[in-house]
Amino acid sequence: MAANRPEVIRDKSDMRAWSRSEKYRGKTLALVPTMGFLHQGHLSLIREAKSISDVIVVSIYVNPGQFAPSEDLATYPSDFHGDLRKLAEAGGVDAVFCPKNLYESGIERKKMDKDPSFGEEKAVSCLEKEEGGDGHETWIRVERLEKGLCGKSRPVFFRGVATIVAKLFNIVEPDIAVFGKKDYQQWRIICRMVRDIDFAVKIIGSEIVREADGLAMSSRNVHLSPEEREKALSINRSLTKAKSAALHGQNSSQEINDLIVQEICDAGGRIDYVEIVEQESLVPVENINCPVVICVAVWFGNVRLIDNIEIKM
Ligand code: PAF
Repeated sequence: MAANRPEVIRDKSDMRAWSRSEKYRGKTLALVPTMGFLHQGHLSLIREAKSISDVIVVSIYVNPGQFAPSEDLATYPSDFHGDLRKLAEAGGVDAVFCPKNLYESGIERKKMDKDPSFGEEKAVSCLEKEEGGDGHETWIRVERLEKGLCGKSRPVFFRGVATIVAKLFNIVEPDIAVFGKKDYQQWRIICRMVRDIDFAVKIIGSEIVREADGLAMSSRNVHLSPEEREKALSINRSLTKAKSAALHGQNSSQEINDLIVQEICDAGGRIDYVEIVEQESLVPVENINCPVVICVAVWFGNVRLIDNIEIKM
């Protein structure tokens, strides 16, 4: 296995120098950004990257900037040595970028705050800077796309994601970056950010990878009890039925929505949202007569799961 062991790089200048030397040698470089605790879903992103690029960098960094103080940063699962073992076994990864910290230090804030300039509740992450201090304070916001779907209940999430992905692009300087379409809104937001601020990075959206019983793979699945996991199968079941209904002519979003809500609630899930939106703009539709994606976020016990299904009309 040692031959397949990727090089582990912790320092951002070393990472940039490594990438530049590969690119100087004429190699194309793909980045697969992750927060670790790797599963088959991540390995499939890596395979996709490998099929279109010479050199693969996987980043492993649990980004405090995308967690609100009330969210699960402290309990986010991690297994760095396990991750390295999986990458060595899978092969094909040349370097793992695992920085200790990518933000200039500020102090933690534990509460939501008000920011008069936005006239709304200000998004505060786990690393917000001290007022008047010199910690990190630059954020990328994809203003409209970040607001709907998961953005409604996770106000800091997408500015944290966009910011860390931009930082990773600046450090790793990839030609290609691969993201999973399970995080559909995240993928669309990254595409929009890349277009809007002219990153020279090609973004690939990779199809959702599911367990044999249909549950979308997620690092959070380990937190489900066996009963919750069984109940969570209602998510994919309801999405599959909804797609079939839509393809058979049921085009009222409301009725498709009701069908999904009913199935998930019957199984004991607590709905955060079910929305049927246009695939690129993520604008909700009343009738399904263009390419849409049905996005859901559901709680089973203390675990919030997201999933989606695309319908190409
Ligand atoms: O999808 C994830 O794991 C994260 O949001 C990402 C893209 C690695 C940014 O931290």
